[in-house]
Order: sequence, then structure tokens, then C-alpha cells
Amino acid sequence: MLPKEKFELTASTLFGLENVLAEELKELGAEVIETQNRAVKFLADNELLYKTNIQLRTALRILKPIARFKARDQYALYKNIKRIRWEDFLNLHQTFLIKPVVFSPHFRHSKFAAQKTKDAIVDRFRERFNKRPSVALENPNIVFNLHIAGENVTVSLDSSGAPLNQRGYRKSGGDAPLNEVLAAGMIKLSGWDAKTSFIDPMCGSGTLLIEAGLMAQNIPPNINRKEFLFMNWQDFDRKLWKEIISEAKSNILSAEQLKVKIIGSDINLQQLEITQKNVQKAGLTKLIKLRNKSFSEFVVPASKGKIVFNPPYGQRLRLKQIEEFYSEIGNILKNKWTGFDAWVLSCNEFANKSFGLKPAKKIKLLNGQLECRFLNFPLFEGTRKDFLGNKNNNK
Ligand SMILES: C[S@@+](CC[C@H](N)C(=O)[O-])C[C@H]1O[C@@H](n2cnc3c(N)ncnc32)[C@H](O)[C@@H]1O
Repeated sequence: MLPKEKFELTASTLFGLENVLAEELKELGAEVIETQNRAVKFLADNELLYKTNIQLRTALRILKPIARFKARDQYALYKNIKRIRWEDFLNLHQTFLIKPVVFSPHFRHSKFAAQKTKDAIVDRFRERFNKRPSVALENPNIVFNLHIAGENVTVSLDSSGAPLNQRGYRKSGGDAPLNEVLAAGMIKLSGWDAKTSFIDPMCGSGTLLIEAGLMAQNIPPNINRKEFLFMNWQDFDRKLWKEIISEAKSNILSAEQLKVKIIGSDINLQQLEITQKNVQKAGLTKLIKLRNKSFSEFVVPASKGKIVFNPPYGQRLRLKQIEEFYSEIGNILKNKWTGFDAWVLSCNEFANKSFGLKPAKKIKLLNGQLECRFLNFPLFEGTRKDFLGNKNNNK
């Protein structure tokens, strides 16, 4: 049998999750070439391309580079773009769109670079076929990503379409819902193994709970998505795709098979009604239990596990209130959650000091544009020294 054709792919992600994504790729059998800023390069064949699109929890999209060259001005860009065999990727009946990402002193306006690229593609088609494919701003069949960093130009095919964090379960948001990819990354960074309890006591729209539930039941986050752009490619293998979907479905675990508890709570009842709908939409009602309690009233439901959450970070609260609130959170964690491993995404640098607990780990993450710290507080009994001593003895 001939070896399957391998090609390079790039999976993009959020700042701080690059290593988590590289691990996920390795688990899927990918050969990782390089971890970059907000992206991971890897080798794949079509099978892995399809799998990564449905399975990866911390990827935003998967790109397939088709050309790389250097250009310092619009003429070089046009000439090099026109040389690409566009007819291999696009036919006259398909619509297309160029999505530019430009960081370059040579190209100050990304729209202009995209326009030049479109002109070159259209001119190549006209010269060869006397006809040209059309551009579509909405629902194009084929999307080309134009990446220009300095003088380095990379043209890629976008295999995903809508970003992969749009899993389809969150019809309604809430008070600053987390990006699904960020939530999945936080759970992976916390080291949760889906064997102990997982608690989010300020669950908002339920993103952390739902991502944890999907992981526990081994449900690929995009298993229900009907449209990926690779389905419009000339080499799309529908038979292989169907096999991948049915194999992934056969590996899903039922809630009854799991011993784990996933519990969320929020002080806001209206919010919880929305959360319940999201949980339902994700098909996780049997696994995820919701409560309407404030953090101080919430009864600790197990002797150990992970407690992972992002408290309100104070756009609406004044600094003084925030400090008091975060100090209360610290006290509750210390006094009630012994045995748990707490992870808090804190997006308020002043408040971070108010917890009154020394974090064992501090990981920088971006929540939208907001720079945050993902803080780990292992809530052990006795002193920190005892805990570290025990940990070392157990090695
Ligand atoms: C930043 S949001 C959490 C967003 C959530 N992770 C998501 O993805 O949708 C903070 C949540 O904490 C809740 N909250 C605020 N104070 C609380 C308290 N004392 N106890 C429990 N929940 C609280 C708010 O109602 C809000 O839904």
C-alpha cells in the first residue's frame, strides 16, 4: 500500500494554550513540527485533518498552507499570487473569500493586500478560462487565509470555516462568558483527569462545566457540526469522513458509565435558566448538576476534586468591593475546600493579591483582550511546607 500523503497544517489557538494544543495533537497521533505564538504546526493526512477539526478542544481553526514567498510591495505580491495554481483549489462555480492577517511595514492596509490577492486570482482565471469565480462575503465555499509577517507571505486554505470554539451548544451567553477554547484549555491546564469531581461555583453560562462534561464523556466538541470548509475541497473524501464520525460516536461514553460529579452553581437564578438550556443543548443534562447558591452558601459536595472558576473581575464593581469579594473567596477556599485543587482565572491584577493565598502556579492567559492570571491554590491540610514535603515523599 502506498503511504498516505502527508502535508503541513497549522492549528491556531489562544495565547497561553499552545503547549496544551500541541499535547492534544500528539494524542491524536500528529507529528508536531513546531509550537509558535498562538499556533502549532504539524504534519497530517486527510484523516487527521478531518479528525483535528472535530476533536481538538483548544484549536480555533486548522489551516493548510499552499504557498509561501517573500514580497515587499504590491507588485511582488500580485506576481507571486498569480503564479499559484488556483484552479487546483477553486473552480469557476465556487465562491471564495480572502481573509488577511497582516503585520508588515510593507503592507499597511490588510484590505488592500487582500484586494491585490483577489485581483491576481481573478486575472489568472480570466486569462485561462475567460471566466472568473465570484467573491462572497457571506458563506463562501472556499476561504484563503493571507498571512503577511514582514516580507514573509503565507497563503493557506482554511479547512474549518466558523471558528472551532463555536460548538453550537451556547445559544445564549451571560455575564462575560468564557471562550469555549479558553475554558477547555483551563481544564486541561488544571490537570483534571475526569475521575474526580469538577466544580464551578460561579458557573455563569456553564462553559467550564460543559467543556468538562464533553471531555468526561469523550464527546468531540464539534461532532455535531454539519459544515466544514474542507467539505468543499476537490479532494474531500466523504466515505473517510463518515467513517471518522461513526468511529468518534462509538467512542462516546454515557453519563451512567462515569462515576464523576460535575456541579455548577451561580448566585443568579435567571442566569441558571439559560445555563440549563446550554447544558441541554450540549446533551449533558445527566452529567451536569446545577445549583442556585452563592459561593458562601454552596455546600462542598465531595472530599476532593478540582474547583475551577472565573469570578466577576470588576468592570462593574469598585476596587474596594473587588478586594473584599476576592478576600472572601480566599477565606472560603481555605476554610471549606480542603482536599480540593483550586484554579481561579483572575482578570483583575489588584484583586489577585486579595485572595490571601499564595498561588503554587500562575499562568498568563488572555480572556478576550484582557490579560489574566490562572492561579492554582492547592488546598491542603496543614502548612504549605507539610504539603510540599508530602508531595516530595510521594514521588
Ligand atoms: C465572569 S462570570 C462567569 C462566566 C462563566 N465562566 C461562563 O463561561 O459563562 C461570573 C459569574 O459569577 C456569578 N457570581 C457573582 N458573585 C457570585 C457569588 N457570590 N456566588 C456565586 N456566583 C456568583 C455571576 O452571577 C456570574 O454569572
